Amino acid sequence: MKIFIDSANVEEIRKAADIGILDGVTTNPSLIMREGRDYKKTLKEICGITKGPVSAETISLDAKGMIKEGKEFVKIAKNIVIKVPMTQEGMKACSIFTKSGIKVNTTLVFSANQALLAAKAGSYLVSPFLGRLDDMGQTGMELIEEMRQIYDNYGFKAQILAASIRSPQHVKESALSGADVATIPFKVYEQMFKHALTDKGIKAFLDDWDKLQKELKKK
Ligand code: G3P
Repeated sequence: MKIFIDSANVEEIRKAADIGILDGVTTNPSLIMREGRDYKKTLKEICGITKGPVSAETISLDAKGMIKEGKEFVKIAKNIVIKVPMTQEGMKACSIFTKSGIKVNTTLVFSANQALLAAKAGSYLVSPFLGRLDDMGQTGMELIEEMRQIYDNYGFKAQILAASIRSPQHVKESALSGADVATIPFKVYEQMFKHALTDKGIKAFLDDWDKLQKELKKK
C-alpha cells in the first residue's frame, strides 16, 4: 500500500520525504486554510519535495470552472493530480480531464455506488472518507472492502485512496482491506512508528551495552 501525507504543511511533507517513506501528497482547501499560504506556491513547493502524485483540489461547482482551475494547476508540475468532488459536474470534469491525459482524484466519496461511478468516469484515484463515515455512526472500512470487490470484479484501474484517516488503526485496516493508498495526517504517520516495546527494547539494549563497557574497563 502506498503512503501519502494528507497535509499542506511543507515541513511535515519534507520530514516524511527525509525518512524516505512518502509516495505522494493530498491537499484540500481546509488543509491550505490552516497554513494561511498561497495555494499554488505551496503546491509548487510540495511538488519539489516528492515526485509522487500531489492532489490539488478545485473549488468550482461546475465542470467548466473545475476544468479552468485544473488546467492552471497542471501547469505547476507534472505530478499534479486534479481533485474534483463526487458530483455530476465533478464526474463530467473527470471524464474530460481523463480523456486529455490529466489524472483525477475523485474526492468526498461515501458510498459504493459513488465509487463505481468515479471509476467509470476514469478517475486515477478515488477517495472514500473513512473517518467522516465513522463520525456518522457507519463503518467506513466496509466501504473500502466493497470498493475493492467492485473494482476487482470488473478490473477497474482506479486506485482506492483511503482518506479521512484518523488513527494508526485506520491505516492498518485500510491495508488489510486492500486499499491501494492511504493518505495520512502527519500526526498519525508519526504514531505509526511508535511502540512502547520498541522504546523499552532500545533502552534495555543500551543499558546492557553500558554495563559491558564498564566491566571491560575494570579488566
Ligand atoms: O483527504 C481528505 C481528508 O483530508 C479529510 O479528512 O479528517 O477532514 O475528515 P478529515
